[in-house]
Amino acid sequence: MVDYNDRLHSVYAAGRAIGQETLDAWMRAYAEVAPPERPLTVLDLGSGTGRFTGALAETFGGPAYGVEPSARMREQAPPHPGVTYLEGSAEAIPLPDASCDLALLFLSFHHFTDQQQAFHELRRVITPGGVVLLRSQFADRMPDLPWYPYFPSAPAVDAAMYRTVEDTERMARAANLIPDQQVRLIEAEQPRSLKTLYERVSTRALSTFEHLPADEMEAGFEQFRRDAAADPDRETPAVPASLMVLRA
Ligand SMILES: C[S@@+](CC[C@H](N)C(=O)[O-])C[C@H]1O[C@@H](n2cnc3c(N)ncnc32)[C@H](O)[C@@H]1O
Repeated sequence: MVDYNDRLHSVYAAGRAIGQETLDAWMRAYAEVAPPERPLTVLDLGSGTGRFTGALAETFGGPAYGVEPSARMREQAPPHPGVTYLEGSAEAIPLPDASCDLALLFLSFHHFTDQQQAFHELRRVITPGGVVLLRSQFADRMPDLPWYPYFPSAPAVDAAMYRTVEDTERMARAANLIPDQQVRLIEAEQPRSLKTLYERVSTRALSTFEHLPADEMEAGFEQFRRDAAADPDRETPAVPASLMVLRA
C-alpha cells in the first residue's frame, strides 16, 4: 500500500498539476454522463489535493465533498466556497445515505484497502439514478505511457496495481452499481514536450516509483534526463484515459 502522508504529498501538486484545458476537458466528459439535473451534489472520493473538487462544485452547481484520508494531502487543497473537505475513507464515507448525485474516483480506487466495501459505501451515499465516475486503469487495458521505455519494470508494476475491467464490473454489480456498456476513452491530456515530461515524471509523484528497484530508477532517470536535454522540444503523445461509468 502507498501512504500519501509519507512522501507523495510533498511532490504531488507539482508533479501532477493539470492545466485549465485538461481540467475543462475532464469536466465536459463528466457532464456528458452525469444526471442532467442541476444542481448536483458531488462526492470526490480520494480527493487528494483537490485537483478536481472545486471545478466539480462549479460545473455541477451544488456542494462538493472531498473525502480524503491523508491529512497532508487534504491540507494542500485550496479552500473553495462550494467545497467541504472531510477526513475519511472510501470504506467508511462520512456522508449520509442518498446524499450525493455524482461521485468521482480519480485514480484513487486502486489505493482502497477494501474495494468491495467501497462500492457498497458508494451505493449507500449515491441517490437512485446517480452516477459513479471511475477514472482508473485496468490490468487488461493498460496504456502505453511515453516514459515506460526508460523503466522496463514499470508496465508490469503498474498493471499489478489494477483489476481487469471484468473483475471491476463484477464487484460494482455486486453492490448494485450498473456499468455502462463500454469503458470510455477520454482525450483530456495535452501532448507534452520531452523536457516537460521529464520534469514532471522526475518528481516521482506517481505511485509506480514507490515500487521500482532503486538501480532501475537511477539508470532510467539518467537516460531520460540526457534524452530530454538533447531533444527538449520533441513532442510526446497524450494518451487517452479510461473512465468507467457506473449507475445507481
Ligand atoms: C493518485 S491520488 C489521487 C488524488 C485525486 N483524486 C487526484 O486525482 O488528484 C490517490 C488518493 O487516494 C487516497 N486514498 C488512499 N486510500 C484511500 C481510501 N481508502 N479511501 C479514499 N481515498 C484513499 C490517497 O490518500 C490519495 O490522496
